[in-house]
Amino acid sequence: MSITAHGGTLINRELSGEEKTKALKNAEALSSLTLSPWSISDLELIGIGGFSPLTGFMKQADYDSVVQNTRLQDGTVWSIPITLSVTSEEAETFQIGEQIALKGEDGVIYGTLQLEEKYTYDKKLEAEKVYGTTDEAHAGVKKLYERGDVYLAGPITLLNRPDHGDFTNFYMDPSETRQMFADLGWKTVVGFQTRNPVHRAHEYIQKCALEAVDGLLLNPLVGETKSDDIPADVRMESYQVILKNYYPEDRTRLVIYPAAMRYAGPKEAILHAIVRKNYGCTHFIVGRDHAGVGDYYGTYEAQEFISQFEDELGITIFKFEHAFYCTKCENMATAKTCPHDKENHVHLSGTKVRGLLRSGEKPPKEFSRPEVAEVLIKGMQE
Ligand code: ADX
Repeated sequence: MSITAHGGTLINRELSGEEKTKALKNAEALSSLTLSPWSISDLELIGIGGFSPLTGFMKQADYDSVVQNTRLQDGTVWSIPITLSVTSEEAETFQIGEQIALKGEDGVIYGTLQLEEKYTYDKKLEAEKVYGTTDEAHAGVKKLYERGDVYLAGPITLLNRPDHGDFTNFYMDPSETRQMFADLGWKTVVGFQTRNPVHRAHEYIQKCALEAVDGLLLNPLVGETKSDDIPADVRMESYQVILKNYYPEDRTRLVIYPAAMRYAGPKEAILHAIVRKNYGCTHFIVGRDHAGVGDYYGTYEAQEFISQFEDELGITIFKFEHAFYCTKCENMATAKTCPHDKENHVHLSGTKVRGLLRSGEKPPKEFSRPEVAEVLIKGMQE
C-alpha cells in the first residue's frame, strides 16, 4: 500500500473528456486573468494533487495560519502560502462568487478559479515569517515584493496542463508516480529535490539513502529559478548522463517537479517534503542549506526546522551533513565519517564552479563527474 497523501486524500482538480470540453467552452465566456508562469505552475500542482490537500489558492484563514503557525487552519502542516496575486485595480474588476478563466501568457485557458475571497496582505510580514528576512536582495523576497497587493482565493479547476516541451517525457503526475512505484515493486522510495546539476556530493547522499530504500526518485525542480542558477534544460541533460553512467537503471527514476523555486530554506524544505510525499515517496533528503540562497539560513536550519514536524509529516527525512571528497580517505564523506582536516577536503563554491564551467574548464573529478561537467560546459557556452 502506498503512502497516504498529505492531509489524507490525493487531490485531483482536473477535468477530462466531455466535462473538460464543456468547461473550456464556458470558460471562454468568463472574465479572464492572465497568470505568470509561476502562478500557472502553482495552478498545475494544485490541480494534479502535488499540493494536496490544497484544492485552490489559499483563503485568508489558511494564509494567516500558514504564515504564523506553519499550518493550515485545520492544523495540517503547511509551510508556504500558495496564493494568486493581482493588482488592486485588477482585483476590483472581479466579484466574489464569480468564476474566472485563468489564462497563461500564451492566451491558453489553463483553468478556472471560483472566486470566494479577495484580501490584502502584509508583504513584509510574509517575507519575515516565510523567508526569515525582509531583505529584497533575497531572490524569493524580491519576487514577493514585486507581486500585486491583493490575493484572489478559492477552489480551482485545471482544464489544460502547461506544455513541458522537451521535458514531457519526464513528466508524471502524483497518481502516475505512485502507480509506477507499485509496478516497480518499490515499497520505499527516497525523493531528491534539486535545482542544481548532480555533483558528487549530491550523488553521495542519494546513494547513501539508496542503500537503505528500494528506489530513488530524482525529482529536479524545473519551474522558475533565479537567473544565475543553471538552466533546467542543461540540468536535465546532465541528469540523464549521470544516471546512465553511474546509477542502477532499475532503482532510479527521473521525473520533473514543475514548480517555481522560492529559496525559502527551512520553510521550503517542508513544502518539498510534502510534495514528494504526494508523489508517493516514503523518504526525502534534506542536506546542507536545503533550498537556501546566500547566507540567509544556517547550514542545518532546514533540518532542525523540519525535525519539529517530522512525526506529523509522515514522510521520513534523511538528513545529511555537508558532503565532500576527502583526498586522504580517497572517498566521499562527511564530518560524521571522515577524521581528516579541512585542507584534505575538496570544496568549491557554486560561484567558483560556474566560473570554471563558463570558461570551459572542468571542475575536478572529485567534485563533478567528467560526463556531467562536459554537458554543463557545452550548455553554459550556448
Ligand atoms: S536546493 O535548493 O534544491 O536544495 P541543491 O540542488 O543544491 O539545492 O540541493 C539539493 C539537495 O542536496 C538539498 O537537500 C541540499 O541540502 C543537498 N545538498 C547539496 N549540496 C550538498 C552537500 N555538499 N552536502 C550535503 N548535502 C548537500
